[in-house]
Amino acid sequence: MFSITFFLNSKVTYLTDINYDNLLMKIKPSKEENEKVQKLSNQLIKVINESAKELDVPATAVLVGSVAKGTWLAGNADIDILIKFPLETSSEYLKEYGLKIGHKCIQKMVGSSEERYASHPYVTGYIDGYYVDFVPCYNITSSIELKSAVDRTLLHTQYIKVKLMDKQADEVVLLKKFMGSVGTYGSEFKVGGFSGYLCEMLILKYGNFIQTLKTAAKNWNYGYIVDIENYGTANLFKDPLIAVDPVDKNRNVAAALTVQKMSEFIVAAGNFLHNPSEEYFVLKNYKTKPNIMLDQFKNRATKTVIICFKPPKIPADAVYPQIKKTENSIVRVAESEGFSVFGSESWTDENDLAVILIEFETWKLPCIKKHEGPQIWIREHQERFLEKYGNNAWIEDDRWVVGVKRDYMDAELLLSDLMTGKKSGYLKFGKHLKKKIMKEHQIIDVIEFLNSDKSEGKILYFLHHYLDKGELLYR
Ligand code: UTP
Ligand code: MN
Repeated sequence: MFSITFFLNSKVTYLTDINYDNLLMKIKPSKEENEKVQKLSNQLIKVINESAKELDVPATAVLVGSVAKGTWLAGNADIDILIKFPLETSSEYLKEYGLKIGHKCIQKMVGSSEERYASHPYVTGYIDGYYVDFVPCYNITSSIELKSAVDRTLLHTQYIKVKLMDKQADEVVLLKKFMGSVGTYGSEFKVGGFSGYLCEMLILKYGNFIQTLKTAAKNWNYGYIVDIENYGTANLFKDPLIAVDPVDKNRNVAAALTVQKMSEFIVAAGNFLHNPSEEYFVLKNYKTKPNIMLDQFKNRATKTVIICFKPPKIPADAVYPQIKKTENSIVRVAESEGFSVFGSESWTDENDLAVILIEFETWKLPCIKKHEGPQIWIREHQERFLEKYGNNAWIEDDRWVVGVKRDYMDAELLLSDLMTGKKSGYLKFGKHLKKKIMKEHQIIDVIEFLNSDKSEGKILYFLHHYLDKGELLYR
């Protein structure tokens, strides 16, 4: 009893060790940065509204997202702007003129643009050093009117602006920064973590950063429910974390959160509370020396190969699931051929290079394998089996067994045949990946790769993280 009390006391002193005001000064935007972003945002809104008028389109712009909510991080402003159309607008008109207005505004502001796709197309501009999303939506006032997923953003922004107190916005910033540096921030497929809005919901629910971490560390379990408005609709969802959207009772805000990232957050929260440190709010410095990793891979005495190819030119949120699907399929086929896989991971720079890494525990197999036949009681099947295998078959317990020739004795050869299509019927490629991979790819042993002059750049971080998957979770 005594020791537990002592432990808790020591924790409390630790927690006050961090000067959160100082910390916030570093991670919150400075007065200048804030003014600059607000000014730019106002200007953009004005230019969009003007552009709409010039095109005779009945649309108006509104600032949403973390800049509107005061929950953005220093050096990390992405300006989210919705272009609101009347509810009766046709979706064709909305798409066409949403893009037109976006482009026109970017042109006027002398930025560069790129079209993207969410539930419908939108434009991203790079203006004065900031990324700006111009997203067309319907001007809804309640989730009942919802026509597309982005419409909700409007309601989110209004809800948070009303409910979140200024002081709590700071707590959101702490939580987002913490999430970012332990690797759990971001609802995009690349991460599968917590969205900004989910962080805001958690602060509304638990009051502050520390309380959020404490609750996650102590109480969260699979299927945990956060239902701020007590809608009682959590049973609609089967997800690791269920966060019923305060503006839409039929939506789980945590739908994109993987059980992996939820677990990582719970563990990182516990680690932080156990030994709080400002280091948790800083991106960890990697040391990525090829020769150190070379030794690490050698010492594991597994066989690790990387399959490199050029990713298709599709949005990031489409490409990640496709690469993952291909990776998972390769693992399944390799295991069904009798090889055993220790681990796998994939990565892409979203531009020139995509990589699927497979680490084998068993990568060479003998030329025969056991093939199980029918039980001897099933006489009809037995007959057919013996017709085929005759004298070679034997009985184990009550079952016929035969030794047959294995298709692949070498995992690398299997991979190569899968990738060139010689054995492609078995592999589930992501939709847009098949052609790309078939056309051009490379399969390289990681040892060879690390020894070569190609082993530079961001792929080293990927390999580093593969070797030390938990390193972001503690300081
Ligand atoms: P952002 O991803 O830009 O989030 O999406 P954010 O709140 O601005 O946080 P930052 O940029 O990471 O600081 C903009 C809005 O889209 C909705 C939310 O309403 C969010 O505020 N959104 C986005 C979701 O509801 N879910 C998501 O997974 C992503
Ligand atoms: Mn944003």
